[in-house]
Amino acid sequence: MAELIRKPQLDALILEIGSSLYRLAAGAPPSLFDGRGLKGRVLARALRDEKLRAALFCFIDTLPQLETASDVATHFFAYFEGHALGGVWGRLLRLGSHSILAPVVRVSVERVARYFLVEDSKRAISRVLKQLQAFPAGASFDAVGEAVLTEAEAERYLQRNLELIDWQVTGGARRPHLSIKLSAFTPRADPIDLDGSRERIMKRLGRLMPRVLATRACLTIDMEQVEFKPLILEVFQHLLDTYHEEGWLPAIALQAYLPDTVKDLEQLITLARAHKRRIGVRLVKGAYWDTEVAVARQRRWPVPVFEDKSQTDAQFERLIDILFDNADIVYPAIAGHNIRSLACAMAVARSRGLPASSWEVQTLYGMADPLAKALARSGVSLRVYVPVGNLISGIAYLIRRLMENTANTSILRQTYAEGCDPQVLLAPPRPTAAIATRAGTDAFANTALLDFSRREVRARFKLALDAVRDNCAREYPLAIHGATLAGEFEPSINPADPTEVLGRVEMATQAHVEQALANARAAFADWRETPAAQRLALCLRAAGIMLRRREELAAWQVLEVGKNWREADADVAEAIDYLRYYAHEMVKLDGCQPTALFPGEINHLCYEPRGVAVVIAPWNFPLAILTGMTAAALVSGNTAIVKPAGPARLIAYQLLDVLHEAGFPPQVCQLLPGRGEKVGHRLVEHHDVAIIAFTGSREVGTSILGQAAGLHPGQQQIKRVVCEMGGKNAIIVDGDADLDEAVLQTLHSAFGYQGQKCSAASRVIVVGDRLHDRFAARLADALAAYSYGPPQDPQYVFGPVVSHSARSKVENYIELGRGEGRLCYRGRVPDHGYYVAPAIFTGIEPHHRLAREEIFGPVLAVLRARSFEQAVTMALDSDYALTGGVFSRLPAHIELARRRFRVGNLYINRRITGAQVGGQPFGGVGHSGTGIQAGGPDYLKQFLWTRVISENTLRHGYVPPDLLK
Ligand code: FDA
Repeated sequence: MAELIRKPQLDALILEIGSSLYRLAAGAPPSLFDGRGLKGRVLARALRDEKLRAALFCFIDTLPQLETASDVATHFFAYFEGHALGGVWGRLLRLGSHSILAPVVRVSVERVARYFLVEDSKRAISRVLKQLQAFPAGASFDAVGEAVLTEAEAERYLQRNLELIDWQVTGGARRPHLSIKLSAFTPRADPIDLDGSRERIMKRLGRLMPRVLATRACLTIDMEQVEFKPLILEVFQHLLDTYHEEGWLPAIALQAYLPDTVKDLEQLITLARAHKRRIGVRLVKGAYWDTEVAVARQRRWPVPVFEDKSQTDAQFERLIDILFDNADIVYPAIAGHNIRSLACAMAVARSRGLPASSWEVQTLYGMADPLAKALARSGVSLRVYVPVGNLISGIAYLIRRLMENTANTSILRQTYAEGCDPQVLLAPPRPTAAIATRAGTDAFANTALLDFSRREVRARFKLALDAVRDNCAREYPLAIHGATLAGEFEPSINPADPTEVLGRVEMATQAHVEQALANARAAFADWRETPAAQRLALCLRAAGIMLRRREELAAWQVLEVGKNWREADADVAEAIDYLRYYAHEMVKLDGCQPTALFPGEINHLCYEPRGVAVVIAPWNFPLAILTGMTAAALVSGNTAIVKPAGPARLIAYQLLDVLHEAGFPPQVCQLLPGRGEKVGHRLVEHHDVAIIAFTGSREVGTSILGQAAGLHPGQQQIKRVVCEMGGKNAIIVDGDADLDEAVLQTLHSAFGYQGQKCSAASRVIVVGDRLHDRFAARLADALAAYSYGPPQDPQYVFGPVVSHSARSKVENYIELGRGEGRLCYRGRVPDHGYYVAPAIFTGIEPHHRLAREEIFGPVLAVLRARSFEQAVTMALDSDYALTGGVFSRLPAHIELARRRFRVGNLYINRRITGAQVGGQPFGGVGHSGTGIQAGGPDYLKQFLWTRVISENTLRHGYVPPDLLK
């Protein structure tokens, strides 16, 4: 190996090679930037106009879904009206609706697509192979597809890859070459279930392997979003362990934009050396930059990618060094279109005396043809990555490429559209100093969810589950100061296995109710005088304790109410958010606040706590809602008596434990487990109660409202009822909806936590007959990909319903549905435990009970509508008005939904569950609630009353000057 040359010399060599490449390549722009047709006129303008660029990509994204010419025209005008379009599209826009619009637009988009995407046919593959031989260049084919949501789609992906091998063989390829996406081999690649996902992937990949080995095909595993990285690395290792055939070169892509990639590469090299096996590594910069940044910010996780482009470029060069240092065991494939980055690879290879056969450059088909030709002429081995698919399946790929090429930071844009100075393009990357992280602020921020793609996070969660189980079967006696024990205990059980007793809870009697109320009333006098700052500090302390115990608190939910790991963790995070949010809100309400100026008087308004609050909570968000209502009562200066729901009593004990550990006095906050008809009823009607905070069914909620309205002997104030009830929530799927998203998000909205959320979707209204049938079939197939089982095992996304009686109620509705509509899908569930097999019905009419009554289980009715307007009318045809959803890409329909779809929480193009405290205050109207939302700015005021103090400051004609201003 030639002696390594020092850095300045290497830079000089990079500049020399890069300048030569530039001269060879920069003369002719790649077809995307060559200035003719849609590309030239429209894209050229879009490069200069951000809004037009966004409109263009949104339109192209929607186009394949549009069935009729009039749909195409409607969307065309909706997206481009008011924009200055050039060329034929500009003329179409000026012409107004015209019969030629749809065919012209479709043809031009398809033409652009064909620059990047090759048709899915044997003929097209052999044509491309011949075309590339002329460069000369090899190829790697990638079967581009829609999101894989069903087993049939995953199977189709496998078959397409088998075909791609055969077509390459018949097309004359010496050695077939495939690039594959592991997540497409199963509809259920889930980082939380690494082992199960690996097995599911291997089931199909294992069927591809014999053909790969028989044809000595090369297989490169693409790298995907960062949460899949551990799974992808695991499968790669599994391939190394399993297939030892001589001459077979397994390869994997690594992304330079991830700071951890150096470590990953070093581990792979160690692995290869341990196996004494050569492996291929394709070095890329990373294709999901925008998504990674947005998702991390949404989830409040650290951003996993570099945020400065030159850091990515610098790490790319560092990784090139490591790869070439280990070229004896690694076959490097340097992928990209950045002349500096590629020249760096060529310079490093030359400096180490590596022959052209020991590494290669890879480029994307259609992306930078002049550069590819220049590379081939410069003597490097070249391979072109060729995506294969039709426009519908390839649209996501197409949009990604268009976005990437036209981004401000894109090297192709800078080279060809902006004619950037080659000296600048070839300059070494100089990362700016790390961007300072935002200084901590006092503003409320939601709690980050756990990242279950991390092994250590999963391990901690598993440990917590084991620890909770070890602590099971304890007795929980009542702790009401001054009351004797009742001695009657009830077991709390695991709904996935009703023989498993998790603990035994002592039930309160009427005497306990009286004693608890007496304690709360007595404690109120001091508690109301406790400074708000002290009360809210206790809330913040409780939030801190919950954060420390988050896995344990979530584990209780997994076991006691059958939530899966993610749902349980989200519930704990929400509980923490409520504590913090209400603490922040209380700051605004504390103290005397001046009213409008009234000269000669001082007028002040202040908020006062009401007295004893009774908190009656549901079991479906057993910690979050319970904590929210309790925290609101306590931080605003009321004392609280908490009556937990029957199936979630042990979780309520955990909350009380946290609150008492934080320092809330025992009498200020008491837990009173008992049966609704005895304890709940008595609490509601009791004359000492000032507030009832209730979340639960309409039946119980309205009865509480009725009961609380009456005056009972000894009652000194009118009761305030804070009441959140159920929903019969609808999602509208418009004719132009992104079906991948609509199916996936509806599935989770309807069946997440077995449909036992008041926000859950229980109706989906699809616009158009054809879409209705396609949607229902795909949704059913997508759901069929899941199996049901005990949620303590993370492979199960769906578990049991909460109780025997809940199961019977849901089963009755399923029987009813068979009579009212057509059972389109019924799942299979374990025999043991309170499982209900999920059901999807079609043929349901708006007047059917299945379309009107809250079921609270895994049952979904799919209805059809002729138009979007009709769908909105149908969605609103309900007693409830809690949540609603719309999947549409037509701005006018989105606007219509914003105006007319009046529900408490409307979600557009996303799932309809998972409201965030502060960001999405939650609650509905109609029979869903009283219209003031939890986790929002008005909520705390319900626990307070206002009084105003007016003081006359006129003293015989003298007014202090500041009171005259
Ligand atoms: P250029 O030098 O313009 O770099 C653009 C890249 O820089 C972006 O894609 C992003 O990674 C990064 N970037 C942009 N803005 C940034 C910022 N503010 N801070 C930090 N970094 C920023 N990708 C992938 O994820 N998995 C894969 O398996 C493959 N496979 C693949 C095969 C082949 C043959 C090629 C050519 C490419 C891929 N890619 C990929 C795509 C690849 O990751 C990359 O998106 C493109 O090649 C663009 O990089 P260039 O070097 O060409 O352009």
